[in-house]
Amino acid sequence: MQLLPLLGVLCAFAVQQVTAQTWYYLRFQTPSGAYISSFSGNMVAPTLPGAGTYYLWPGLQPSDNAGVLQQVLDGRSGSWWIGSGWCCSNPSLSWGSGFSVNNGATVSFSNTVNSISGGTWATSITGGSSSATGSFPLPTHPMNQAIMAIELYDVSWTFGALTFTDVVITANTTSTSWCTGGPYNYNNAAVVSMSTPSASVSGGSSTCSISSIVLERPA
Ligand SMILES: *[C@@H]1O[C@H](CO)[C@@H](O)[C@H](O)[C@H]1NC(C)=O
Repeated sequence: MQLLPLLGVLCAFAVQQVTAQTWYYLRFQTPSGAYISSFSGNMVAPTLPGAGTYYLWPGLQPSDNAGVLQQVLDGRSGSWWIGSGWCCSNPSLSWGSGFSVNNGATVSFSNTVNSISGGTWATSITGGSSSATGSFPLPTHPMNQAIMAIELYDVSWTFGALTFTDVVITANTTSTSWCTGGPYNYNNAAVVSMSTPSASVSGGSSTCSISSIVLERPA
């Protein structure tokens, strides 16, 4: 939900006293000057231990680190809810609609932009019979980072694995090492198992496919 710690800025659509914040995340970053045009996959909701500020999400961050466009699985109410949104300002955009998610359910997500240099992102989330779409104009924020994150406030990672499947990231570069080199694992804080990323190049862009990415447990 929040901005990544790179900036150390707190932004929340529910402002709260933060006492203990814990991050685990993986990040694929494109080469300098290349940007992401789409990011899609599936995320499996773990069993929520109870009401708490559990934010589990895939998201895109721009090269200026101004915010995150994300699909956040939110555990605050005691059952999961997911919605798409841009956190948190510059520009201020209202949070998108979403739906409840059962423990163990799979939610598919997709984000695509109409102009790689910065445009309007179309988002879509689908889980079972529920779905929601969103539109987020972010013309000055071309995206260069695809992130899978566990963001926790005053709770611990006790819910077991967070699984992503069929993750696909497309960027306007003929380089493939940003994909095949695997993601950065923040602070090596998470034990991760994943299938080998594969990249295919077509025209001026490369598509990175990873069939399975599992954040298993704290390292
Ligand atoms: C990617 O797109 C941006 C925005 O149009 C452009 O400035 C950049 O040169 C492109 N990069 C590559 C490697 O094609």
